Amino acid sequence: MASAMSPPGAELSINSSYLCVVKIFENISLRNLNSFGVEACAARLVEWESPQELSRNADGELISSLTKDPWLALGGGNNILFTRDFDGTLVKSAARKIEVTAETPKTLSVRAESGTDWDYFVSWCIANNAWGAENLSGIPGSVGAAPIQNIGAYGAEAKDIIHSVECFSIDTGVFLTLAAEHCAFGYRDSVFKRQLRGRVIITAVNFILSKKPRPNLHYAALAEKVAETGSGEPTLQNISQAVISIRNSKLPDPKKIGNAGSFFKNPIVDTNVAHEIAKSHPEMPLYPCAENHLKTKLAAGWLIEAAGWRGKTDIETGGRGRVGIHPCQALVVINNGGATGSEIVSFAQEVQQDIKSKFGVSLEIEVNIC
Ligand code: EPU
Repeated sequence: MASAMSPPGAELSINSSYLCVVKIFENISLRNLNSFGVEACAARLVEWESPQELSRNADGELISSLTKDPWLALGGGNNILFTRDFDGTLVKSAARKIEVTAETPKTLSVRAESGTDWDYFVSWCIANNAWGAENLSGIPGSVGAAPIQNIGAYGAEAKDIIHSVECFSIDTGVFLTLAAEHCAFGYRDSVFKRQLRGRVIITAVNFILSKKPRPNLHYAALAEKVAETGSGEPTLQNISQAVISIRNSKLPDPKKIGNAGSFFKNPIVDTNVAHEIAKSHPEMPLYPCAENHLKTKLAAGWLIEAAGWRGKTDIETGGRGRVGIHPCQALVVINNGGATGSEIVSFAQEVQQDIKSKFGVSLEIEVNIC
């Protein structure tokens, strides 16, 4: 193990016992490990390739240190905002195997390890004629992060294809497999954000995909785009291309402009409150909640745009212009260059307060603030 004099980010040790590999880095810069591109440093980053290594590494040294010190599982860093250095251990999966575990005439069961790039997994499904993931094309992040906030876009959610989630329990040191019905999946929500937060490391996700065509074109803009790009029955390829083209027209590429996709959740309010707001804003989109007719989902992007924030920066609130709202999609907070995590949070709080005072609606931040 390393001395404290090692250069920042240096790879300190590779433990290759049990034919498994764990890489440990100390004092590592997180700038290239978070899509906001903010500067922060982690005391330790442990990258593992085989789940067994989590329990066997150095006679349990890794796990016993995680039970004592702060730790956090890091996926692609696409839904996290560091506001300070992380004085603990970041645990990152480099396990990237995808395998077919079962097949029936109608379905393909696929197991993907948690470090697999999400969009690579989607491309794998498309290449293997497996339906169900195509509407989730182009989402940055890892397979292991997908169940945590039940990623969703264009009328589909990860939960629609997840059969079970494999994880390693930090508390007990055992591996467990949680069936989807025990994952408490909801809108951008799951048991992994609640009761199991900070208690398990997701090691793999099991999916059930359809071998029969199952186009999901409920999202109107997607149906229109698919109709433009192909004639006849929609294919996996033209649905995926249509999704990517809509995403590219609205969402900034995190490689070019620091961002974490939707910064806020779409708020779910009492239906009578939604109708009260709609009286003075009849053009406001309302999405009835299928599970509960007493609740209605509002579009955070619409509220933020209607309050005049689209394309604005924190110069409006006395800041330095390093943080702003994306000009094409008001749900997305952007780092215009050099912003700190705290500046981004302060700006987001100004937006929250303004929406509260103009519409009486509380916006919840979707991104994990660290
Ligand atoms: N809207 C505006 N102005 C804006 C943005 C949106 O008026 O700047 C309006 C739109 O016109 C539309 C409504 O708000 O009537 C909803 O907008 P949109 O359909 O673009 O979707 P969204 O609610 O803004 C959600 C997800 C996205 C996902 C899209 C597409 C959340 C928090 N966000 O956005 O997810 O890609 O639907 O399905 O649920 C992400 O999680 O990072 C993400 C990008």
